[in-house]
Amino acid sequence: MLDQSNRPALPPEIARRRTFAIISHPDAGKTTLTEKFLLFGGAIQMAGQVRAKGEARRTRSDFMKMEQERGISVSASAMSFEYKGWRFNLVDTPGHSDFSEDTYRTLTAVDAAIMVIDGAKGVESQTRKLFEVCRLRDLPILTFCNKMDRESRDTFEIIDEIQENLAIDVAPASWPIGMGREFLGCYDIVHDRLELIDRADRNRVAESIKINGLDDPKLAEHVPAEQLATLRDELEMARELLPAFDRQSFLEGHMTPIWFGSAINSFGVRELMDGMGEFGPEPQPQKAAERQISAEESAVTGFVFKVQANMDPKHRDRVAFVRLASGHFERGMKLLHVRSKKQMAVSNPVLFLAADRELAEEAWAGDIIGIPNHGQLRIGDGLTEGEALRFTGIPSFAPELLQTVRAGDPMKAKHLEKALMQFAEEGAAKVFKPAIGSGFIVGVVGALQFEVLASRIEQEYSLPVRFEGSQFTSARWVSGPKAEIDRFVNLNKQHIAHDHDGDIVFLTRLQWDIDRITRDFPELRLTATKELMA
Ligand code: G4P
Repeated sequence: MLDQSNRPALPPEIARRRTFAIISHPDAGKTTLTEKFLLFGGAIQMAGQVRAKGEARRTRSDFMKMEQERGISVSASAMSFEYKGWRFNLVDTPGHSDFSEDTYRTLTAVDAAIMVIDGAKGVESQTRKLFEVCRLRDLPILTFCNKMDRESRDTFEIIDEIQENLAIDVAPASWPIGMGREFLGCYDIVHDRLELIDRADRNRVAESIKINGLDDPKLAEHVPAEQLATLRDELEMARELLPAFDRQSFLEGHMTPIWFGSAINSFGVRELMDGMGEFGPEPQPQKAAERQISAEESAVTGFVFKVQANMDPKHRDRVAFVRLASGHFERGMKLLHVRSKKQMAVSNPVLFLAADRELAEEAWAGDIIGIPNHGQLRIGDGLTEGEALRFTGIPSFAPELLQTVRAGDPMKAKHLEKALMQFAEEGAAKVFKPAIGSGFIVGVVGALQFEVLASRIEQEYSLPVRFEGSQFTSARWVSGPKAEIDRFVNLNKQHIAHDHDGDIVFLTRLQWDIDRITRDFPELRLTATKELMA
């Protein structure tokens, strides 16, 4: 977390914003929880009408999955809604079970994350990976232990596992009373309330009773004697063994408060939302190469963290998702596109509210706006009111797997090129066009991304494609003095390709080749990633 000391109070409009993502292992309940957030945030009227099963539904963003399969329209990578005076911006993390750059970049746009774990399964592989990404950014994390209506692990065991596995302190914000069939609800430790589950109606909010500490006779009216005795024992033990919630430690990413609940039964969800509002971080300062940008600065600044194409199948336009780092944005503003040094009138920005996208008349630091464009806006680009700021921290990963891709129908090569360029712009893959020969080479970070790409090209462009092994295994971007690059390219034609920006890439299968070039062309730089900033 950046230095917060001496930070002045934020303007109320900014201070009430909470921008966060939900991370989880597939099936832990992220989609269900998201739906309940939208329900309690007034963004949708009803949750969980349609369910689809199987792995296929995870290849697209979870918001799209909800839209397609549940008949509700969210159509976005970020949703904004009001909750008890807070403005929540929930940013979708892509649903692939493979780690991808997309996920990482999404987490550069948020100030906090909610980690959902399945009470029976505890910390799973994907939870751990995503958690590590959050940790790299010191993101504050709230934990939701889901599916308490099923047989779950012992509460202490779950907490222990998180502490051991993720090396983070865990402070219980609520404590479950029973589990599985016997699950009654939770004791809200933060507010001293008894929260009781209503199993009859899954969208109904549970009963909440104010309690004056554990000796309050009201407890016995609602909790059977045996369970009450266990609750008292456990809470006493928890007090002795577990740290109390410390907001500073949470904001620094060292401690996570945990809530227990059941997303499908709407149980524990509002307490979690309250927790995000009460304890969650305000819009945080953002880093640029030149300086740190604070949310309260009056000039508008923001950066593109995601580009999505084909959101509206009728238009081949793109939407660039911009996280506002500072200021008060108003529709129609002219902003400097720092990379191209051109002014852009932002006349039709969209905010993703309620049931549909809406024109954003205004937005504040912390908000995510979508800017439709024809490809000018790229991931990592900065927008400002004139200052040449280069935002940092949006990483580009080295492609670790390379494959050749061909259209099933050779006549469709042009279509394939268009599709690939789109995905390259979205940051979904690296695409290289070899200087000699036909076809394209695609580079990704995780093997599953090839499948995702093949299915998207087929769906969005009606173009069956084949991925095949490539003779190359590594890609290096080449930079240096122009004459030297020209000489290098001439001597290595078989290994040269261009990426979607036209930049020169050296492809090889031998580390030896790379070492040789470093020796023979000392003025050239070969890098495994390309800086996103110009
Ligand atoms: P994901 O986005 O993290 O992948 O999870 P998702 O919300 O789609 O939930 C995965 C499954 O878990 C869903 O079951 C969902 O209904 C169920 N689920 C979510 N929250 C709870 C909960 O609090 N309690 C219980 N018991 N189940 C919950 P599904 O896809 O319909 O099928 P199945 O896995 O039940 O067969």
